[in-house]
Amino acid sequence: MTRRLFWKLCGPLALGTLVLVWVVTFLGDETEQKMSFIAAQHQQTLKHWGTTAEQLYYAGDEQALADWLAELQARENTWAAVVRSDVQPLAGSTLSAQFQEGFRLGRNVEWKIHLYFTENPIMDLTFADGHTHFLVTLPQRMRPGTYLPEVKLLLKVALPLAVLMLLASVIYHYLMGPLRQLELATRAFSEGNLGVRVRPLLGNRSDELTALAETFDRMAERTGDLILTQRQLIADLSHELRTPLTRIDMAVSCAEEGIDTQDFLPRIRRECRVMRSLVEDALTLAWLENEQPSLDHDNLDLTDLLDSISEDARYEYPAHVIESSLPDQAEISGSSQRALAQAIENVIRNACLYTPGGGHVRVTLQPDGDGYRLTIDDEGPGVADDQLELIFTPFYRTVQARDDRPDGHGLGLALARRQIEAAGGWIRAANRSGGGLRMTLWFPEARSRRA
Ligand SMILES: Nc1ncnc2c1ncn2[C@@H]1O[C@H](COP(=O)(O)OP(=O)(O)OP(=O)(O)O)[C@@H](O)[C@H]1O
Ligand SMILES: [Mg+2]
Repeated sequence: MTRRLFWKLCGPLALGTLVLVWVVTFLGDETEQKMSFIAAQHQQTLKHWGTTAEQLYYAGDEQALADWLAELQARENTWAAVVRSDVQPLAGSTLSAQFQEGFRLGRNVEWKIHLYFTENPIMDLTFADGHTHFLVTLPQRMRPGTYLPEVKLLLKVALPLAVLMLLASVIYHYLMGPLRQLELATRAFSEGNLGVRVRPLLGNRSDELTALAETFDRMAERTGDLILTQRQLIADLSHELRTPLTRIDMAVSCAEEGIDTQDFLPRIRRECRVMRSLVEDALTLAWLENEQPSLDHDNLDLTDLLDSISEDARYEYPAHVIESSLPDQAEISGSSQRALAQAIENVIRNACLYTPGGGHVRVTLQPDGDGYRLTIDDEGPGVADDQLELIFTPFYRTVQARDDRPDGHGLGLALARRQIEAAGGWIRAANRSGGGLRMTLWFPEARSRRA
């Protein structure tokens, strides 16, 4: 079985997880990066302090500068100072331009701040002369990244959780959709809606769940058919039993009233025989329909079987000419002597029954493919073309047959078809061009037994 569902689930899950990891990492880095800079208004304030310190310094009023520094430190609860950084190169060495440009005592206000340092950094605002600096430890209120822990929690816990829940919900609905349909269908079926089917409701998808739906539909189809057939069988059987029962009832009433008992007893016996054969045939039919058995335990010679059936028919219908054209032998294996005998007998008996006395019935057996083809031609009225299939339905009889042979029940061909199919063959009816019916039966020569 192809694991379609596995790949269908695996794809989005694997891809979704990869994308999620990438997005979380990317957003984490981006936000951390963005949160590492001092806010623009704080940068302005720091620069303004630098300018104030520079102005006070150049004004030469050291006391004013000292007061301002003291007041600033107290107000912002920080450390601030104005310092000189005259770097004196010694031993004849020189200061390179790169060194002079990059030399700072603290950090530029526009630089990135390391959020993981516990100590706040010292900011450096260099005066115009290049070697006097206003230094201030970044006040706590200006420290960036205040909400970093919360943002990280959001990104690393809340976001993956939300995305995974969304993914789980999509997968859940994808799996539960067909299962829900199956559940509803099973419930509807159990409540008697035999026509319910699931596969058409699942659209174009094709995976293990649609396979399950197809299996359900097949099961519903077969079980539904069986239930309907059995219902029909019971209804027809009850109907057919009514007539002999009524006759028996009447015969018993007459016997009770003392009217010619001798004549009624054989009638009761006859009706009982009819009922027994009806019930037996109906039970065999129900068994063949329900169990769909494979009748494959006998080896037999069709020529012998046909010889003996034809012989019986000649005896039973002496007014008919029954011709047979059979090969010397026609052995078949993996079949059922009993089922084939009963089926062929029914067909030959029909041919004799529906052919007027003096008419011909021709039985021909010949090899055909990997089996044998048996044709039984008669000179009866044939069957209307649109009823050639219907005559294999249990209890179905043509109007003409009802008039000509009121004692038939319409079970012979239904039984014959199921028996022949259970033995691996088939049977068909066709009208002969010159009048009469041709029944064609085919039997496999050798059949491997079903495991
Ligand atoms: N050889 C035939 N010629 C004409 N009609 C036939 C022939 N064989 C069968 N039929 C038609 O098919 C119907 C069904 O045949 P089937 O053998 O099942 O039932 P039946 O002969 O009426 O009764 P049963 O066999 O149960 O006694 C018959 O009633 C008849 O209408
Ligand atoms: Mg019959």
